[in-house]
Amino acid sequence: MITAPRGTHDILPGAQFGWRDSARWQHLEAELRRISHQYGYVELRPPVFEATELFARGVGESTDIVQKEMFTIQPRGRAGGDGAGEPTLTLRPEFTAGLVRAYIENGLHNLPQPTKIFTYGPAFRAERPQKGRFRQFHQWDVEVFGAADAAVDAEVIEIGIALAKRMGLGDLEVDLNSIGCPVCRPAYREKLREHLRPHAHELCEDCQARLERNPLRVLDCKVDADHPAIRSAPVSVEHLCHDCRTHFDQLQRHLRALGIPHRVNPRIVRGLDYYTRTVFEVLHPRLGAQSALWGGGRYDGLIELLGGRPTPGVGFALGMERLLMVLDESAAPGPGAPRPDVFLAPLGAAARERALPILYALRRAGLAADIDYLDRSLKAQMKYAGKAGARYVAILGDAELARGVCTLRDMATGDQREVALESLVEAVRT
Ligand code: HAM
Repeated sequence: MITAPRGTHDILPGAQFGWRDSARWQHLEAELRRISHQYGYVELRPPVFEATELFARGVGESTDIVQKEMFTIQPRGRAGGDGAGEPTLTLRPEFTAGLVRAYIENGLHNLPQPTKIFTYGPAFRAERPQKGRFRQFHQWDVEVFGAADAAVDAEVIEIGIALAKRMGLGDLEVDLNSIGCPVCRPAYREKLREHLRPHAHELCEDCQARLERNPLRVLDCKVDADHPAIRSAPVSVEHLCHDCRTHFDQLQRHLRALGIPHRVNPRIVRGLDYYTRTVFEVLHPRLGAQSALWGGGRYDGLIELLGGRPTPGVGFALGMERLLMVLDESAAPGPGAPRPDVFLAPLGAAARERALPILYALRRAGLAADIDYLDRSLKAQMKYAGKAGARYVAILGDAELARGVCTLRDMATGDQREVALESLVEAVRT
């Protein structure tokens, strides 16, 4: 049997599928659209793949994502040609770089600023699959282009919490850090390097490489987390320039005003290269400290780096699987599948022929209606309608049809009454 590729999941109809229940996904999608609009964000849907170069430059050559996690494809070109000369393409490992490209390419800076964008959909990383870490996963991504104020960082942190609350999830932990800007970070980076260098040989292989390329990443290494040199390492928040310090203080003031408890965690450095100043992750005890429900931060140099005008940016992406998994483990009830208003139960093939126009009329009237197509016994049809959650069953025997009536059963109360076919729509609607 051919099975789904490792690290991917089918989203299926039925509460028994837990976090993979498509009704839960639809509910989450409806809520995230609603809250995005409420906060003034508009939707932009970028393509699922982009030029590899975009992620190499945007996310950063030295990141794990670009080094080892990209699904890259060589287009074959027209008529099965070899695609020589065409740039390689990569399935998006995240949304930010693609959204920035779309912002620049479509001249969105000409619209009233700031541009507040949301999107959601699948992203792809060739990681080793494990709990909460997949090869195809889904993100709700929120970005603000063109606003440097710390109040926007706070808004972006708050909107995620508001969505989680709406979905019924509390107990969130907000971890916050500032990793400075091109003015103050180089000096801090050097200080960190100097501190770690004498211990380089005691660190894991990855960290030895990171030490020279990107020493901040050593701070969030899972392998070396308890190494004394890392625990005693200088922290970025103590080496911020005046402007970064002020921005970070203001952000915390806004978070306090919003009533969002948070913790300054100098180990949060994030795995993507574009960040400046604010970085944050939101955790839930049920997922553990290793994996965040969502994360993001500010990236004031990215738009310029990708060819746009100097424009500040800030945003985050939330892992939709992770949110639904935590909700499922919290035994939060799912929204349930959509229920038919009425199920038509014709008794016999002749009755069904005469019942079909009634089905069409019910649907044209906007009702969710369905019918038995399998010539089942009344008992079997009632059982099926009960499982589907139908509010009413209309029983249509030959004798009833001849008299222009049906028996309408209210499935919640068990009450039955005779209803004229011409008033069936009205009877089901009330
Ligand atoms: P990220 O931290 O790489 O950031 O991913 C954001 C979230 O996506 C994670 O916290 C997690 O919930 C989910 N996620 C990431 N990788 C996987 C995976 N393999 N399996 C399941 N879930 C996963 C970004 O992607 C940035 N673009 C966020 C951002 C937007 N920063 C500024 N704007």
